[in-house]
Formats: sequence, C-alpha cells, structure tokens
Amino acid sequence: MELLQELIKIDHQAEMPVYIQITNAFIHHIRAGRLRKGLRLPGSREVATLLGINRMTMVAAYDELKAQGWIEMLPRTGTFVTQDLPVLKPGRIKEEEKVFTIPAKPSFHFDEKHIIPVFSSDFPEGGKIILNDGFPDSRLAPVERLVSSMRSLVRLATQRKYFMYGGAQGTEKLRHILADFLSDTRGLPVSPANILVTRGAQQGIYLAAHTLLQPGDHVVVGEPGYAGANLIFRYTGAKIISVPVDEEGMDIDKLEDICKKKKIKLVYVIPHHHHPTTVTLTPERRIRLLELAAKYKFALIEDDYDYDFHYASKPIMPMASLDRHGSVIYIGTLTKTLAPAIRVGFMVAPEQFTTAATHLRKAVDTQGDSLLENALADLYKDGTIGRHIRKSVKLYKERRDHFCNLLRTELGAHVSFKIPDGGMSVWTKFLSADTMELSANAYRKGLVMGNSRDYDTYPKRYNSVRMGFASLNFREQEKAVDILKGLLR
Ligand SMILES: Cc1ncc(COP(=O)(O)O)c(C=O)c1O
Repeated sequence: MELLQELIKIDHQAEMPVYIQITNAFIHHIRAGRLRKGLRLPGSREVATLLGINRMTMVAAYDELKAQGWIEMLPRTGTFVTQDLPVLKPGRIKEEEKVFTIPAKPSFHFDEKHIIPVFSSDFPEGGKIILNDGFPDSRLAPVERLVSSMRSLVRLATQRKYFMYGGAQGTEKLRHILADFLSDTRGLPVSPANILVTRGAQQGIYLAAHTLLQPGDHVVVGEPGYAGANLIFRYTGAKIISVPVDEEGMDIDKLEDICKKKKIKLVYVIPHHHHPTTVTLTPERRIRLLELAAKYKFALIEDDYDYDFHYASKPIMPMASLDRHGSVIYIGTLTKTLAPAIRVGFMVAPEQFTTAATHLRKAVDTQGDSLLENALADLYKDGTIGRHIRKSVKLYKERRDHFCNLLRTELGAHVSFKIPDGGMSVWTKFLSADTMELSANAYRKGLVMGNSRDYDTYPKRYNSVRMGFASLNFREQEKAVDILKGLLR
C-alpha cells in the first residue's frame, strides 16, 4: 500500500483542510480506476502513518468517503472500495471543496478585438428613474393575457408538438396572422412564406446581414446612426460607409454619388423615427431610394422598428409595400410594441432570401419559442395587440407632450431639441454640460440616463442623448427633469 504514498499528495500550506484533500484524492483515484472496486484498503492508523498525518484526520477522511458511498467498512473484516460506486449527482460545491476556480483567461488564443462592446447589457436598476433610449412602458404590456393564452395552449393536445424541435422560420400560426396583419395595416403584399419570425429586430438585421455580406463588401448606413446595426455590419467584416441624415432622413443625393463610384451591397435605413435623431424619411426620398436599389442592385434593409408609434399623422407606408423588384428586406418587432424582453420580431423578404436566412437561423439559434409565438398569434387574433397599440399610442403622445413641455420650461436654457413626430424618445442636445459628466452626476441622484458616447461615431461628437419618455409616467418625468435641472443650475 506504499502506492497510497505515491498517489496522495498533501499540501499543508493550502487553505483546504487536509482530510478534504485526502478525500478528494481517494475519489479521484477510484474514479480513474487506480483504486479498483472491491480493493481492500489499509486501516486508518496505517494510512496515517504512511502519509505522516494525525490518525484522527485519516478517520475523518474515511468517514467522509463512507458517507459519500465511495468506501464501505465491514465490521471485523476491513475497509473496501465500494463495489457499486455512487451515482454522481451534480450539486453545489462547498467553498472549501473547490480545488480550483475557472481561470479568468482561457489557455487558447482568441482575438479579443472581435468582441466589440456597445451598450450596457444589464437590467435596469430598481429604485432609480430610468430615462432609457426609447423603450415602451412594460407595465402596460398585456402580459397577463399573454400568460393566460399560453396556459390555455399547453392544455391542448394539438400544441404538444410545439415543445419539440421544428419551426425555424417561426410557427405557421404566427406567420399566417402576421401576413394578414402586415397586409391590413402596412399594405405589405406578403404570404407566410416571406416571413421569418425572429427574436426581435436585432436578430432580423443580424440574419439579413450575415446571409448577404462577405468581408470587404460595402454597406451604407446613416450618420448619426444605430450603433446596434453598425456593430452587426462590423462583425461581418463589411466596410461601412456613412451618409449624412438630415431633417428628411438619409441624404439620397449623397447615396447616389457613392453608388456611382462603388459597388454597394447593402443600404440600411430606419424609415420611421431614425435612430438616434428620430426623423422620418420623407415619401419622396423613399421612392428615390427604391429606384436606386433597383438601378444599382443593392439590398435595402428597412428597419421599421418603431412603425406603430406615430403621433402627428398616420405612419408613412413602408418601402416594402411599394417594392416591385424584390430589393427590400423589411424588419419589424414586437419588442417595442410590448416589452423589450418579449423577444419576437420578424423579417419579410423575397421567399428565396427568407429561406436562406432561415437556414442561418437554424444554425445559430435552432428556432424561436414556439409556445410564445402561438400565444402572440392568439393576441393578434382576438384584438389584444391592436387595442394595446391604440392605447399606447394615445398615452405615449400625452407623455411626449408632457416631457417636451418639461424640457422647454425647466431645461430650456440648457438643451435644444425638436418635438418628435413619433417614436419613444427625444433627441436632446445639451448646449454646455458634458453629457458624460451629467449622466454620472444624475446617477448619484437616482436618475439613470445615457450619454452621448452611446451615439458618437468618432471623431463625430454630438453631445446629445435620446431621452425616452414613453416608459415614464408624468410624475416620474417630473422627477427626472427636476434632477437634471438641479445639476444643470
Ligand atoms: C433602430 C433599432 N433597430 C433595432 C433595434 C432592436 O430591437 P429589438 O429589441 O427588437 O431587437 C433597436 C432597439 O432599440 C433599434 O433602436
């Protein structure tokens, strides 16, 4: 049994108690087969002598091994490695049992420059007022109705199959309903085959971009623009070209100049309430953009993330509804309609492209949440979503007016902004205060607010922030503005 001396090494400097070290070593060697099943083990006194430890320490180790089922002690016969080794159940490892912690850095090489940090990915902090980037008020979302629809669905035998693999394109039920909804409300001539249900607009843009782009391809985006989309394009290895966005949306003359000089593979536009400036692309520019897409054969991602929330008049018809050539990849989302964490959106495109993007989706994400998709289909069908949109638009319009009024009366000397026609945020320029400093100070006073670094595209600095009014009630808005007023004074 000198073998034990070889196998069991004790570190007397380690924080881990010696009896645990011995226990772990025995387990390790039993599992590795070095101490075979049924092997007779020496008594605790003998092992203690071999290892140069106190006998009571060895008794404690054997007791622990016995308790865990690794050894058995037969009266007047001896100690043996158990014939039937314990079935290991994963359980929480006690702090003192941890032999090592997972190293912070891997042993293999990966190129960290591929990881491009943008926005914070933490949930909003409780107990603070959150002036977000322009998100809906999740307190209004019909979640009870959604949950009750899910509950009804799980009781139906016909729904059992939706717990299995399938439906990478989204459930047929939701795609049918969406096809009707998009045709009725946005004039989109679509069939369910054109639709890919995604996890929000972000995944739609990602799938479209990665289906389409090769490293080195040229992509045109608006400046300032949506960092989340630019991030996706950077990940594809495409070259990003910026075109200014003015009061009427993307400058189409500038875009045409670029098309004359370079082969453009993709143009990304946000037609309603451009991110971040909130302007809406005019009908004239929409038509010219479609003509250019057909002429220069580029794909057009129309990210209509905010379509429903127009306050001045009805929203303008999407370019996808006029697209005779098959240039447009139309993206929409329910995350802005209901709540950001209800991750369902859609991509609408010519069928062949939708199929290709579905294959990619299957590779990265297998499929969406079929039960959630079918429950949402029920909410479309029974009018819940339609009613929710109408109610939210009415309320957000009041909140926009109240917030803009507060900005004008309370912070008028410090900010400049235009009242947005739609969307959920006000693009606010701070005239003298540095937004980085302001948001850090506001945080200390209980107000969470972004800063202009979220929108700057170096070397361009805007010193502006998107101030989301939709998710704050009047009282919360007043508190937020009051904090800013105190800081700007
Ligand atoms: C312009 C734009 N597109 C897409 C998205 C992503 O939306 P989703 O949460 O549906 O993925 C956002 C989110 O704020 C956005 O502002």
